[in-house]
Amino acid sequence: MKRIKVFAPASIANLGCGFDIMGMALDEVGDVLEMTLDEDGKGISIVNETDVPLPADPEDNVITPVLRKFFALTGKTGRVDVRVLKKIFPGSGIGSSAASSAAAAFGINELFGAPLGEEDVVVCAMEGENLASGGYHADNAAPAVMGGITLIRGYEPLDIIKLPVPGNLYCPVIHPHLTVSTKQARSILPKEIPMHTAVTQWGNVGGLVAGLCSGNIELVGRSMRDAVAEPFRKQFIPGFDELRAKLLGAGALAMNISGSGPSVFALASRSDIAQRVGAIMERHFAQQGILSETYVVKVSNKGARLIA
Ligand code: HSE
Repeated sequence: MKRIKVFAPASIANLGCGFDIMGMALDEVGDVLEMTLDEDGKGISIVNETDVPLPADPEDNVITPVLRKFFALTGKTGRVDVRVLKKIFPGSGIGSSAASSAAAAFGINELFGAPLGEEDVVVCAMEGENLASGGYHADNAAPAVMGGITLIRGYEPLDIIKLPVPGNLYCPVIHPHLTVSTKQARSILPKEIPMHTAVTQWGNVGGLVAGLCSGNIELVGRSMRDAVAEPFRKQFIPGFDELRAKLLGAGALAMNISGSGPSVFALASRSDIAQRVGAIMERHFAQQGILSETYVVKVSNKGARLIA
């Protein structure tokens, strides 16, 4: 019997312009799983030890398809017992399903002596994302496994590029208690976009990558804009445009929807600005009678990892 404890971080998908192709890992906030392997047994059990509600049936838990994909890819067998010890609230828009999926994928690979490389660990984690949202996207799963800021250059075949993370990137994130499912947030998007929207978007994606590679945080900030999804999704976030104006006025470099929402994140180059921006976000939703949680964290180069 082998037993480990694994952490995988929360993450922010899209980063404004990188719809479905970019994401970044956050420091400290994330999921913790305890995983036990009996190589002579068979089956999967999942026990939720948090007060966050999770599906009672393991078939509906994102961890199950992740473990099955690992077994299918490697030909290994065994019994895995998982205890969920810490869990990001589902539907928060900071990669809750990806954190569980990444922790499970990383953990099972470690328990068997790491037969899979990092990119295949992401492939396993994507099975959890598929169960959660009905699509194989890696914009949360890749940073949750690998850490840092990741670009999915292509899905067929999967080609993940890890981008440099400037040392002074702070990220206030707010989770307003509003219900917006990823499925709903995707269903309202148009299937086609006009050429001038595409030109704006790929200009920004190029600017974002260039800004990260050269450590030019102002360029990163002004490139983190979304002409594709935000115009349709911001209706779910009360006072979205006013909030952005307030945050930019307080020194934030950018503000965007985190993934498919309803969380919103900003970017700052200093910790004190990030704290101030976080407080403004909190006040914005409180004034409208909307409860929220705020995290002010540093963008992290660390992904899924063993903690015991
Ligand atoms: N990138 C996807 C979206 C999901 O924006 O719909 C990320 O959580």
